[in-house]
Amino acid sequence: MTAPTNIDPKDIQAHLAQFKGDKYRDGWASLWDKGDNLPWDKGFPNLHWRTPWSSALVPGCGRGVDVLLLASFGFDAYGLEYSATAIEACKKEQAENHSWYRVRDQSIGQGNVTFIQGDFFDDAWLQKIGVALNGFDIIYDYTFFCALDPSMRPKWALRHTQLLSPSPAEAYMEHLSHPGEDIPYNDQGLIKQDPLRAPSKAGLERVAYWQPERTHETGQGENGKIEDRVSIWRRRN
Ligand SMILES: C[S@@+](CC[C@H](N)C(=O)[O-])C[C@H]1O[C@@H](n2cnc3c(N)ncnc32)[C@H](O)[C@@H]1O
Repeated sequence: MTAPTNIDPKDIQAHLAQFKGDKYRDGWASLWDKGDNLPWDKGFPNLHWRTPWSSALVPGCGRGVDVLLLASFGFDAYGLEYSATAIEACKKEQAENHSWYRVRDQSIGQGNVTFIQGDFFDDAWLQKIGVALNGFDIIYDYTFFCALDPSMRPKWALRHTQLLSPSPAEAYMEHLSHPGEDIPYNDQGLIKQDPLRAPSKAGLERVAYWQPERTHETGQGENGKIEDRVSIWRRRN
């Protein structure tokens, strides 16, 4: 397993600030190309997982640890990365640490693992892996949303409605209730949202929300208090 690193995330923000608009992807790719000092990359999956469906997408999967874990639960798991270097890291993780991702339930067995290079927002990678639009039962987003330039968040939510099958789904944040819409933010970067506002017609619906019993240190506050939350969302049609 790769050891956690200590780089100040502020250095990452300064680096990414040099890549404006759509160029932000190249900012992330260049971080991967620099080497192993990647503060988001814990080297092992967050352990708040429990329930299997059948096919799972991990966009911006990084080193692929969550993809391998999902496959060990029996999902056919797809890891999508824009960075070709990250895809290499995924394959290395799979080759070197496969014994850590043992099958969790023999009656379900091991799911297939597919790592694919591509941009979450276009369809070329879907064609390469032979999966149709609305072909994923769940999308597991772990620090991908926050990797995007905030201007892309409406498109991020809209993309979920294009990728999720009409079955249980996982994702987070207010954007999913109003996909494709501009959501107002205040100058501290917090959403200005009326919590009583009805979801839009195409909006996803949250069906579960919980505080995990354990999580990475970055998801904990003072005295180990867990600040991470997990939500499950589904289409409403
Ligand atoms: C903060 S990292 C999180 C990686 C991984 N989920 C983890 O927790 O270790 C965000 C990742 O998203 C990838 N990424 C950014 N924009 C992308 C895009 N449009 N399509 C696919 N991957 C993207 C970056 O290369 C980076 O590895």
